[in-house]
Amino acid sequence: MNINQFKKEAHNLVDWMFEYHNNIKKYPIKSKVKPGEIYDSLQSSIPEDGESFEKIFQDFENKIMPGITHWQNPNFYAFFPANNSFPSILAEMLISTIGAQCMMWDTSPAATELEEKVTDWLRDFMGLPSRWKGVINDTASIGTICSLLTARELKNDFKSNSDGINNNRYRVYGSKEAHSSIEKAVKIIGIGSKNYIKINTNSDLSIDINDLEKKINEDINNGYVPIAIISTFGTTGTVSFDDINKTCLLANKYKIWHHIDAAYAGSVLIVDEYKKYIKNLDLADSFLFNPHKWLLTNFDCSLYYVKDHNLLTKTLEIHPEYLKSSNKKIKNYKDWSLQLGRRFRALKLWFVLRTYGKKGLKKYILNHINLAKYLNKKIKSDKNFEITCNQNINMINFRFRPYNANFKNLDLDTLNFDLISKLNNTGEIYISHTKIEDKVSIRMPIGSTFADKKTVDESWDLIKKTSNNIIQKN
Ligand SMILES: Cc1ncc(COP(=O)(O)O)c(C=O)c1O
Repeated sequence: MNINQFKKEAHNLVDWMFEYHNNIKKYPIKSKVKPGEIYDSLQSSIPEDGESFEKIFQDFENKIMPGITHWQNPNFYAFFPANNSFPSILAEMLISTIGAQCMMWDTSPAATELEEKVTDWLRDFMGLPSRWKGVINDTASIGTICSLLTARELKNDFKSNSDGINNNRYRVYGSKEAHSSIEKAVKIIGIGSKNYIKINTNSDLSIDINDLEKKINEDINNGYVPIAIISTFGTTGTVSFDDINKTCLLANKYKIWHHIDAAYAGSVLIVDEYKKYIKNLDLADSFLFNPHKWLLTNFDCSLYYVKDHNLLTKTLEIHPEYLKSSNKKIKNYKDWSLQLGRRFRALKLWFVLRTYGKKGLKKYILNHINLAKYLNKKIKSDKNFEITCNQNINMINFRFRPYNANFKNLDLDTLNFDLISKLNNTGEIYISHTKIEDKVSIRMPIGSTFADKKTVDESWDLIKKTSNNIIQKN
């Protein structure tokens, strides 16, 4: 492809992008293809001769698009959103056009300095301590691994980096509701998942601080070495909030590293009334959240903040001859995370923050919380449904429970799975579930960029209609 063809096709793609977003509801949200169908439809090997863009694009439309799940449809409620926005998409176009690999200051000074600027901006906007510094990773999983590695090295005077871990007695603590990425990180840092201690939760599914302190004391008495506590600001199942302030005090009392996983809910901190939940944060050590979940920035974009960035770089830095920089004093983000090569993620965040401004971003978050309140009220007043957890910010947890039928819990689980599957098969909505007290519960985080009262009403009408059909057939 020459540069003139590139120009022509790029213009065509912009038109396609417009049509896609303008007509997103015409696609079934959850792809309907069968396992292996896409693979089997594709050529068995790389073509001998290069093919035209036109032909490749035709296959993209005919073979790839049917296998896409449409995360940007406003009736997408599964998992957590990965919401993008038009300024973010435009920035992604520039990022791939420039194609810079931003591992060091030298390899694109603007990328490094913009990354420092946008992470500082968000730190201040969210009310994180002003001396903390941030870095942009692809995902929260990576931030958590970096945090636990730092905790491990700090405990061992940075010796396990060189000597490996001997006679491991280290322990990490998180609640039973903490995300699986924590356990995975514990496995990866080499201390073994049996040393990840899952703490009981309170009735609101937040970490039980008394149980946490009890387990820490038991471990110390038995010769174990607590290295880190992970608290969750917004759990995955129900967006429940651990008491960050109390956990900060506890971790400080026992001098244990404290990391806060706010992957999803961290964005809510831009709204002032939520800042009281992190007033002791200066006693913690690290914090992460994903603008790619709930702050209008295309996947991937996860911000990891640390109180003392020197501990992070001391844990991760490595300086082979071929990567020596021109100036020792400058920041090289390659030493702030796991991978060497880095995308220019700061650009899309900068486009988003400037396009919406503080007012627009707060309005966006509050709109979702209000829509969730609106839907929660509807569900509460419907006798065929029950709310299974108090509404946390923009998350609703509920289940289908026909009032005039006598169901055992097991039947209700089956019934709810049936409802979810029927809803997802309509192609007009995508929802997923969790278990609360071992009972299947539907979860609906309202966080799509394009969610409004109309889409929420549409979704609820569909849920009602589908559940009524199930009632009539039983
Ligand atoms: C609370 C929490 N932490 C961590 C993660 C992992 O996020 P990532 O995919 O960015 O690694 C998730 C994903 O949903 C999450 O909900």
